[in-house]
Amino acid sequence: MRKVYLDYAATSPVDEEVLNEMMKFFNIDFGNPSSLHLWGQKALIGLDSARIKFKELLNAKELKEIIFTSSATESNNFIIKGLVFVWLFKKRKKPHIISTTIEHESIEQTLEELKNLDLIELDLVSPNKDGFIDPKNIENYIKENTLLVSVIYVQNVIGTIQPIKEIAQRLKEINKERKEKGLNEIYFHTDAAQAGLTENLNIQELGVDFLTLSSHKIYGPKGAALVYKRADIEILPLLSGPGQEFGLRSSTENVPAIYGFAKAFEKFYPKRKENNSYLFELKNYFLNEIKKIYPKVQVNGALENSCPKILNLYFPDYLSQEILIKLDLEGIGVSISSACSVRASKPDKIILALGHSQERAQKSIRFSFGLKTTFEELSYVIETLKKIIS
Ligand SMILES: Cc1ncc(COP(=O)(O)O)c(C=O)c1O
Repeated sequence: MRKVYLDYAATSPVDEEVLNEMMKFFNIDFGNPSSLHLWGQKALIGLDSARIKFKELLNAKELKEIIFTSSATESNNFIIKGLVFVWLFKKRKKPHIISTTIEHESIEQTLEELKNLDLIELDLVSPNKDGFIDPKNIENYIKENTLLVSVIYVQNVIGTIQPIKEIAQRLKEINKERKEKGLNEIYFHTDAAQAGLTENLNIQELGVDFLTLSSHKIYGPKGAALVYKRADIEILPLLSGPGQEFGLRSSTENVPAIYGFAKAFEKFYPKRKENNSYLFELKNYFLNEIKKIYPKVQVNGALENSCPKILNLYFPDYLSQEILIKLDLEGIGVSISSACSVRASKPDKIILALGHSQERAQKSIRFSFGLKTTFEELSYVIETLKKIIS
């Protein structure tokens, strides 16, 4: 049977070249990078080279600003909990956090748990119907004890790109005023797990204090991710122990995965402009062809300012589960929502967060494209969809 994978936002295959390059760290240069002998040194060279690459490509100022973790979920937990713990320890009263209603569960649940434990005050900003957060709405929630603002960069279910630079700029101005009043600086974090290959991740241009990036969404292996942390900000580790990663993430580093992560980023990130135009062509073609066979289809979230790899469509006459299963039987892999919430089989909360109905949330499907996706594959998917909906 033919197979077409259209779920690149859930995960991507490891690039062949990347896979070949990382292999030696499994069985040849397999040492523990903290060991002093030759094997350890070889592994350390691999680890250091990955850190240097990320420092350069993300335009970080110092190597210690790049902290490797095991996943974007871990990175997000570390940033939020690490900052909250420092605050609680120093101030002995609750900090306030501002985030949005369109975050990935790894942010949403972390914040919810801290709130339920009565450790933080929390405000969540809603997007407009097109799926964008207005920086002014964030500003409206700022309080004296605001510690952190966390906003997703590319929304993982609908693909809208949030105005990260604008929010950072506004927070810089607000922080200047706060400093004069003797108030704490508000930190800004963006979860860029879905932005890894398509958006500008230049830290100095973006103006963020923290950023999350993941390997398996960008043709690297699973098991590696990173946190960019501005050098002078104090944070407590989630994992304590011998003190790897500048004392901020104990545990032996997953050198093969981290090395592969860096190789994938080095290979694809600098080519994002040309890759984006290819992905945009795929997305536009797919949407136009679907409109021909099913004119009632509607896009969830705006098309402008959206990431080229994600397209979320509403099929008013069909339950998404039904289409998904039929596509799967024909060898086509797509998602209803974020991979993490699919098994819960709930209507997608992101579609609801846009202000749409339960019904629309249950009739929406996410298609996500990759660099290996071809027009020919897409026309096979269109032909199959035609059969399903006729
Ligand atoms: C925006 C975003 N953040 C975080 C994650 C979590 O990634 P992981 O499950 O690899 O930890 C995902 C995964 O889909 C994501 O899309």
